[in-house]
Amino acid sequence: MALWGGRFVTETDELMRCFGDSIGFDRRMYAADVRASVAYAAALARAGLITIEERDQLVAGLEQVRAEFDAGTFQIEPGDEDIHTAVERRLGELVGPVAGKLHTGRSRNDQVTTDLRLYLLDEMASLREALIELQRAIVEKAEAHLDVVMPGYTHLQQAQPLLFSHWLMSFFWKFQRDGERLAGVARRTRVCPLGSGALAGHPLGIDRQALAAELGFATVSENSVDAVSDRDYAVEFLAWAALVQVHLSCLAEELIVWASREFGFVQVDEAYSTGSSLMPQKKNPDSLELIRGKSGRMVGHLVGLLTTLKGLPSAYDKDLQEDKEALFDAIDTLKMELPIAAGVIRTLKVNTARMAAALDDAILATDLADYLVRKGVPFRQSHHLVGQAVRRAEELGVSLKELSLADYQEIHPSFAEDVYAVFDFRRSVEARDTEGGTAPAAVRAQIERARQISESANQQTTKSSPAENIKMG
Ligand code: ARG
Repeated sequence: MALWGGRFVTETDELMRCFGDSIGFDRRMYAADVRASVAYAAALARAGLITIEERDQLVAGLEQVRAEFDAGTFQIEPGDEDIHTAVERRLGELVGPVAGKLHTGRSRNDQVTTDLRLYLLDEMASLREALIELQRAIVEKAEAHLDVVMPGYTHLQQAQPLLFSHWLMSFFWKFQRDGERLAGVARRTRVCPLGSGALAGHPLGIDRQALAAELGFATVSENSVDAVSDRDYAVEFLAWAALVQVHLSCLAEELIVWASREFGFVQVDEAYSTGSSLMPQKKNPDSLELIRGKSGRMVGHLVGLLTTLKGLPSAYDKDLQEDKEALFDAIDTLKMELPIAAGVIRTLKVNTARMAAALDDAILATDLADYLVRKGVPFRQSHHLVGQAVRRAEELGVSLKELSLADYQEIHPSFAEDVYAVFDFRRSVEARDTEGGTAPAAVRAQIERARQISESANQQTTKSSPAENIKMG
């Protein structure tokens, strides 16, 4: 019989039962559910609501339930509508009637959101590690290719020369912000709703602060009505995941374009590519295409949960059960994508010659304008003058470098023989040597800072227990 069966005479419609069940997806929270129940049993004992012996019986039974799940031997029975029901049912079989005391003052409404917070905190810690691994792959690749110059693009049109490493490191910082944001989400997730009951609070005087501390929460929720309905942390997590996803998809898109024959800047390793069943020559960057393609579901999860939450009446509504699949899928997706992205980066072949060959003199037009600026011409004017030089070169069908000095001087008398020294891609890159610029020295300093940041973050993530270790930031 269902936990709530007392007042019912008619059986639940079979289809309705399947419709309402969440055990199919929420069973993955079993460890969190057991953990929260163990702490709750201790809190009940501290409040004198059960004896120490009863507490020990409950805890031993709960440990047994956890062991069965760990071993894969736990049998889901008909009527186990969700993980909370399943654990309680099995506990009853193992320890007898005392199991019925565990739910004293507790509702699945405060239980489910406690479990979900605990579960998420653990997953956040492993996602943080995966993110750091990706950042490490980026730093190592950038360091190994410090002397590679390539065209930098805006609007996907050649803009200014860049170091390949500088381009790659641009993603390090996006993922760095993602890591910091995750720490913020974790901080707001570390609030304990247990002890809120169904919606009105706990009637039997348990010590919520001690309960929260035992579970690794930083604090307790302030309002029981809010506590059972609050899924802000889930929304924030999905927003975080969607943004990581957007960053991953941008990285993927650029590499896909660059792996094409037309660009040939990079080669995706065979370990991360697949072939075609029809065209024997094909080597497709499926890894990156899938990463790009996952954007649909990841953004969808965020919009989906927000839509579920919109306009809900206070406290718990069954609609809230819809929070989990989105979260679980976002977690599963990122847990695949992050290491795959790291693998693609680590094994990526960088074709220096193709990058060099793609550099067009016109990409140095800004440097030419800067040249005039150094001769005292105001930038707005020099920009215009170089524009004239570009047009003149186009008319003559030559590159900027091939334009004669006479042609240059006709445009402006400040042009001199030394103008030809401008046509050096490396020199252009080296000139951008202020902090955050693409000069090798600046990129080296950037990589050094990145290393320090990821090393210290990594120390923090491995130092303490999973739910704790996301505290940084
Ligand atoms: N399976 C439910 C969920 O995921 C647990 C809470 C059920 N609470 C209730 N009052 N029916 O939201």
